Amino acid sequence: MAVILVMGASRGIGRGLVRACVARGDRVIATVRQRADGEALRAEGAEVLVVDVADPASVSGLAWQLDGQEIDCAWYVAGVWDAGTAAHPPTQ
Ligand SMILES: NC(=O)c1ccc[n+]([C@@H]2O[C@H](COP(=O)([O-])OP(=O)(O)OC[C@H]3O[C@@H](n4cnc5c(N)ncnc54)[C@H](OP(=O)(O)O)[C@@H]3O)[C@@H](O)[C@H]2O)c1
Repeated sequence: MAVILVMGASRGIGRGLVRACVARGDRVIATVRQRADGEALRAEGAEVLVVDVADPASVSGLAWQLDGQEIDCAWYVAGVWDAGTAAHPPTQ
C-alpha cells in the first residue's frame, strides 16, 4: 500500500487520481479548496485536508499537517486551465 497525496482533488484529474488510487488499495490524502467538496471524497475512502494553494498560510498549514508523514507519491494538479498563447500568456 502506497501513501498518495493528491492536491486539487475536488474534480477533474485529481478526482480521478483519488478514485484510481483508492481502488488499488492505496492510502490517499486528498486536498480540496472547499470543505464541502471533501465529503464525497471521504465517502470514497480518502482522507481529506483543506488547502488553497494560492494562499501561503494555507499551504504552510498543510506542511504542518503532513509533518512526519511519509508520502510515496504526490500529485499536484490544483490549477486553472488558461488557454493562453505566446502572445497572451496565462495570468493565474
Ligand atoms: N485536463 C487537461 O486536459 C489538462 C491539460 C493540460 C494541463 N492541465 C492542467 O492540469 C490541472 C488539472 O486539470 P483538470 O482538468 O483536472 O482541471 P479542473 O477540472 O478545472 O480541476 C482543477 C482543480 O484544481 C483545484 N484548484 C484550483 N485552484 C485552486 C486553489 N487555489 N487551491 C486549491 N485547489 C485549486 C480545483 O478546485 P476547486 O473545485 O475548488 O475549484 C480543482 O480541484 C490544471 O492546472 C490544468 O491547467 C489540464
